[in-house]
Order: sequence, then C-alpha cells, then structure tokens
Amino acid sequence: MTQASRTTKPRKNSAFKNLMSIHWWMFYCYIILFFGGASMARLPRDFWGRNSLYDFHKTVGVLTMALLTWRILTLLQVWWKKYTKRLPKYSPEWMQKFALHTSLYTFMWAVPVSGFFFSNSFQSNNVRFLGIILPDLFPQNSALVELGRNLHFWLAYTFLAFIILHTLDQRKVVKGFWRRITKRRTKSS
Ligand code: HEM
Ligand code: HEM
Repeated sequence: MTQASRTTKPRKNSAFKNLMSIHWWMFYCYIILFFGGASMARLPRDFWGRNSLYDFHKTVGVLTMALLTWRILTLLQVWWKKYTKRLPKYSPEWMQKFALHTSLYTFMWAVPVSGFFFSNSFQSNNVRFLGIILPDLFPQNSALVELGRNLHFWLAYTFLAFIILHTLDQRKVVKGFWRRITKRRTKSS
C-alpha cells in the first residue's frame, strides 16, 4: 500500500464520508437560503406569494438546524475514531483550520436562531416547518423586532464572509471541481 492510499483510505470509508455528504446537502440549503432570503427581503409588502417565500425560507432554515444536529453527532463520531488512536499535532495550520471550522459551526447555529428570534419577536407562532407551526423559542416582543432583523442580517452576511474564506482555504478542491467540469464539457462537445 502506498503512503497516499494509506492516508486517504480510512477517510473515504469512515464517518468522514458521511460528514462530507451532510456538508454538501447543507451547502445546497445555504445557497437557497442566501439567494432566497436576499430576494424575498427586497420584495414589496403586497407582492403576491411573499408570505409563501418567507415560509419556504423558514422551512429550509429549520431543516439546516436538524441537519446541523446530525452533523455534530457525525463529527463527534469522526473525532472519536480519529483522536482515540492519536491526538492531533497542534500545529499552527491545525489551529487555524480548527478556529475557522469552529466559527462556521457557531454561525450555522446562530444564524437560524437569530431567524427565530426575529420571527417570534414579530409574532407568536410565526415559524412553520412544511406548514406545521413550531413552538416559539422567544416571546413575542415588538420592541425587539428591529434588533432581531439587524441580528439576522449581520450574522447571515458575516457567515457568508466566513464561507468565502473557507472556500478560498479549499481552493485546491475548487480547482479540482472546475477541472472535472471543463473536462466533462469538452468530452460531450
Ligand atoms: C455553505 C457553506 C460551507 C460551510 C458552512 C462549510 C463548512 C465546513 C466545515 C465546518 C468543515 C469541517 C468538516 C465538518 O465538520 O463538516 C468543512 C470541510 C470541508 N469543506 Fe466546507 N463548508 C462550506 C462550503 C464549502 C465549499 C464551497 C467548498 C468548496 C470546495 C468546501 C470544501 C470543503 C472541504 C474539501 C472540506 C474537507 C476539509 C478536510 O479535509 O478537512 N466547503 N466545511
Ligand atoms: C442558516 C440559516 C439561514 C440563513 C443563511 C438565512 C439567511 C437570510 C438572508 C441572507 C436574509 C436576507 C437578509 C437581507 O438581505 O435583508 C434572510 C432574511 C430573513 N430570514 Fe433568514 N436565514 C436563515 C434561517 C432563517 C430562519 C430559521 C428563519 C426563521 C425562523 C429566518 C427568517 C428570516 C426572515 C423573516 C427574513 C426576512 C428579513 C426581512 O424581511 O428583513 N431565517 N435570511
């Protein structure tokens, strides 16, 4: 077995593969949330279908919270398998990656929670998942609506900045994706 296959094989077969599968499902959800959220917030109040778009945004947001719980459990499984064998080398690269991933997890939790804070402050029983009314996480309070709106806005776009940072950090993978897409295009043409 070569050195390369020895280092890549366990990752491909293990819980890490499940973790990355959740990673990409959540990535698709975030694309919908960012494009949908930014568009719906700019629609006129009386726009037909605006409420349905808000409900859809909240449904996808709640879905990411469920996926996040599953992701954290899978991450714990990955860590358990990896770090019970040997502890990580606390190199500056490891620390940097750990800090970036921890920030991303913090935003994956805080952004939807701020969405709840905003929606619940505005009106009680205002968050639905596939049409089912979810219990309030925060009390209705009209004095906090603007704070909720600002929190959700700033947390969401700071999260986006961290996602861009992470994508730049993974530029080798992005280049690989790009090469595969262009190869497929030239083959089919
Ligand atoms: C929606 C935005 C994204 C978020 C929130 C995110 C978050 C994360 C997190 C927290 C990890 C650590 C593994 C885990 O716990 O899941 C990770 C790993 C990874 N991400 Fe992302 N990611 C996003 C988008 C992207 C994009 C656009 C790429 C493009 C290449 C990418 C490539 C990767 C790769 C290759 C890994 C594995 C790194 C390793 O080998 O340790 N991610 N991501
Ligand atoms: C990770 C999950 C989420 C992301 C990334 C996200 C992202 C966004 C973005 C980018 C906007 C547009 C902000 C603007 O440009 O003004 C937005 C708006 C909004 N989001 Fe979310 N959101 C998420 C989850 C949620 C959840 C769970 C709820 C409610 C329970 C929610 C409720 C809202 C509402 C009501 C607006 C409209 C704001 C307005 O009218 O000014 N979001 N969201």
